[in-house]
Amino acid sequence: MRQAGRFLPEYRALRQKAPDFISFCLNPEMAAEATLQPMRRLPFDAAIVFADILLLPKALGQAVWFEVGEGPKLGALPPIEALRDQVFGATERLAAVGETLTRVRAALEPERALIGFAGGPWTVATYMIEGGASDRSQARSFAHAQPEALDALLEVLVQATIDYLAMQVAAGAQALQLFESWAEGLPEDLFERIVTRPHARIVEGLRARGVTAPVIGFPRGAGVLVEDYAQQSGVQGVGLDVQASAALGRRLQKTVAIQGALDPLLLRAGGPGLERRVQGLIEQWGNGPYVFNLGHGVLPDTPIAHVEQVLRLVTGEQAG
Ligand code: CP3
Repeated sequence: MRQAGRFLPEYRALRQKAPDFISFCLNPEMAAEATLQPMRRLPFDAAIVFADILLLPKALGQAVWFEVGEGPKLGALPPIEALRDQVFGATERLAAVGETLTRVRAALEPERALIGFAGGPWTVATYMIEGGASDRSQARSFAHAQPEALDALLEVLVQATIDYLAMQVAAGAQALQLFESWAEGLPEDLFERIVTRPHARIVEGLRARGVTAPVIGFPRGAGVLVEDYAQQSGVQGVGLDVQASAALGRRLQKTVAIQGALDPLLLRAGGPGLERRVQGLIEQWGNGPYVFNLGHGVLPDTPIAHVEQVLRLVTGEQAG
């Protein structure tokens, strides 16, 4: 999940040394260090490469920058022809992420997995259309009002994402995650068209290139539509958000592995409620294929002791 490092003082110290967030992500030495920091301190089974879903629009020629306290900002959406021209070459411009993966894979114990990732095409498109953080209503309106234009944009992102993820596997990633953080609030037909179908095309594109790494899809906020998603997207694992019910997860486990769904707010709050929920998640899903995880990113002001406590409960290991 995003921002795994922000609750660590060593991450904040490293972050200070980078001129800006994008340069940080594209500096393999620093990004490898940020990836490894939580692994040194805590007994996680897998690391996720330090990068960002918004590196892809940047590699496609749209300006992307991060303003402190405000989150991401994007320049004007380039014409579709210009974006299309950049697909071939986008992965080359993200070679630094491959270099980070190779460094991390070499440094990490063999039994701990390394995960590569990209944004879901719809989520990346929402940032490209809206120019930054918002409630996504502009992007959803665009999807309704200009379906052909949105489909063309998604197609560019699907092609670039296949290329980018295949490169990540060649560089050392052993599993891939698609972060579809803005899958919420979509009517069924639109969800199928702009979330499920593009994910299915990405999975097919990877398989056509001989990439066999498992793909985990995380359509956050999909609600009950996550069941159709699991059946139709071709992913091997489905990330569940904090609202996913026990019964929903168990139905999904008949065909895919699931991961999630601990509330990051509860992780931050700690106490007996946290312990109860961790035990509850393991009880409700632990008999099927289940990867223990959060339902969304770690909040920066989460006490490290709470993360240690959860990992003790889940793995039985002490933080070292
Ligand atoms: O845990 C990790 O550090 C893994 C690497 C990772 C980052 N972003 C680094 C990051 C991953 C997997 C992401 C994914 C990502 N990026 C998503 C999908 C997951 C989700 O959270 O929904 C999204 C939507 C983004 C786009 C993005 N990046 C936003 C909206 C923000 C700023 C918002 C905020 O809360 O600050 C970022 C910044 C970002 N990406 C940080 C990190 C560590 C924080 C930068 C910092 O303050 O140091």
